[in-house]
Amino acid sequence: MCEDRKLIDVFSNFKGEKGELIPVLQAVQDEFGYLPNDTMAKIAKFTGASESNVFGVASFYAQFRLTPTGKNKINVCRGTACHVRGAPQILEEVERHLGIKEGDSTPDLEYSLETVACIGCCALAPVITINDEVFGKLSLKDVAKVLPKMEAA
Ligand code: FES
Repeated sequence: MCEDRKLIDVFSNFKGEKGELIPVLQAVQDEFGYLPNDTMAKIAKFTGASESNVFGVASFYAQFRLTPTGKNKINVCRGTACHVRGAPQILEEVERHLGIKEGDSTPDLEYSLETVACIGCCALAPVITINDEVFGKLSLKDVAKVLPKMEAA
């Protein structure tokens, strides 16, 4: 289905009012996996919000992504238990290994890197997840073992 058709389908669930901006953004993101740049003007027109308002809301809330996500999602926990057990260093190591920063995806869209507040496995701190799989009690050396092998750029 082409992008415009998908967008029309998403919009058909709403009335097209300013107060619907956030739910419309959520629905568009659910459909595309992120908020494609060229949907922003259409969302603005549909909801009656200005384009700058749409961009402002989309970039203010952490739930919204303006870039595509990778097929595989890597989350590094930055909750308190993980933080005190070295999560910041783990995050740096993951970033170095993948060659991207938190919030980014690899250029081939294989991997996305995010941080989360607490995964709920604090006894295993520091923890990362790769898709639904949890890896705990990580040392810096473990990072390269659990992450996928990356092709040299
Ligand atoms: S703080 Fe990391 S799992 Fe709870």
